Amino acid sequence: QDSDRAKIIEAHELTIKLYHHILNNTKQGQAAKHYLRERGMSDKLIDHFMLGYAPDEWDVLARFLTKRGFDPALMEKGGLLSAKSDGSGHVDRFRNRIMFPIWDRDGKATAFAGRLIGEGQPKYLNTSETMLFTKSRTLYNLHYARPSIRKSKQVVLFEGYMDVIRSWSAGVKNGVATMGTALTEDHGAVLKRIAEEVIVCYDGDDAGQAAAYKSIPLLERAGLKVAVAMLPKGKDPDEYISEYGPEAFLRDAMDQPVSVTKFKLIYSRKNHILLKEEGRKNYLLEAVEIVAELDSSTEREVYLKELSREFDISLDSLKQDCHQKRQELQKKKPQGDNNDNSWNNGRNEK
Ligand code: CTP
Ligand code: MN
Ligand code: MN
Ligand code: MN
Ligand code: MN
Repeated sequence: QDSDRAKIIEAHELTIKLYHHILNNTKQGQAAKHYLRERGMSDKLIDHFMLGYAPDEWDVLARFLTKRGFDPALMEKGGLLSAKSDGSGHVDRFRNRIMFPIWDRDGKATAFAGRLIGEGQPKYLNTSETMLFTKSRTLYNLHYARPSIRKSKQVVLFEGYMDVIRSWSAGVKNGVATMGTALTEDHGAVLKRIAEEVIVCYDGDDAGQAAAYKSIPLLERAGLKVAVAMLPKGKDPDEYISEYGPEAFLRDAMDQPVSVTKFKLIYSRKNHILLKEEGRKNYLLEAVEIVAELDSSTEREVYLKELSREFDISLDSLKQDCHQKRQELQKKKPQGDNNDNSWNNGRNEK
C-alpha cells in the first residue's frame, strides 16, 4: 500500500536524524563517535553519509516513533522495530550499533546497516527484507554515485560500506557496494542501465579475490565491460587508505585496473607453485585456457607472447594449444548463442 510505504520512508528519515543526533551530540554516542574517528571518518563524511548510533537500550526508537504517531506494527513491517516474543509490544531492532542509512536509487531512505563497535558477531546487521528493501537489488550509495556513473559510464564495485565511504573521500564518487550478500543478476541489470563498465575493487584477501573472480561472468552476462582494481597486501580499500593514504589508494589501485584476462592469470598463478615443473605446466595449461576465451586474436597473441617469453615455450605450441581450447569452447557454447551479440557488448572485437 502506498500510504504504508510513505509512512515507512518518513519513519526512516526521522530515525536517521535521531541516530545521527545521538552519535554527534549525546554522551551515549561518544564511544561510537570515537570509534569512527579512529577509523578515519571526518565530521564531513559522517554528515554526508548521515552515520548514526543506535544506543544500547531496548526502546529508544520504539518510544520516539510511537510518540510521533507511527503504528508499531507497521514499523515492524518496515524493519525498524521487532515484536516482543510475549506479544506485549515492540522493541528497537538495532541496539548498540553504528548505523549506516541505506537509500534506494531514488534517494528514499528504506533500510539500515548496523555495525558493532569493535569485534563481535554478527559484525553487520541489516534490515531484513521488507516491501521497500530487497537486498538482491540494492546497491549502497547508488543514489549519490548516480550522476558520476552516468557521466563516466563507469561504476566501481566495492565489498563494504566503509570501502565506499572512504574511497568517496579519496575522490571516487562512482562507488557502490552490495549489501553483504552476493552480487546477483538483478544487481547486474541495475548497473547495466546506467553504466557501460564495472571496475571490481574487492578486498585483497582470498575471500575478496574469490568473490571478484565469481562476479566477472555475472557482470559480463549483464552486458557490462569489466576490469579489476587489485589491492596490494591483502588489504581492503578502507584499510589501504588508513595505512597508506588516499593518494596511494588512487595510484596503486584505482588508476590501474587490470583486464579480466590479466586478473584471471594473476589469480590462477597464485594457485600454482611455479618453482616446480608440475606447477609451471599446470599454470601454463590454465593460462592458455584463460587466453582462449578472448575473441580478438591480437589480444590472444599479446598474452601468449608474454607467456612464451616468461616460460621459454615456443609461441607456436602455445598458439596451437590455444586454438584447440577455442574449438572446445565453441563446442561447449549453448545453441543459438552465436546469434546473440549482447553478451559481447563493446568487448574484444574491434
Ligand atoms: N557483511 C555483513 N555481515 C557480516 C560481515 C560482512 O553483512 N557479518 C557485509 C557488509 O556489507 C560488509 C561486507 O560484507 O561491508 C564486507 O565484509 P568485510 O570485508 O568483512 O567487512 P568490511 O566492509 O571490511 O567491514 P569493516 O571494515 O567495518 O570491518
Ligand atoms: Mn550533521
Ligand atoms: Mn571482506
Ligand atoms: Mn573488508
Ligand atoms: Mn574493512
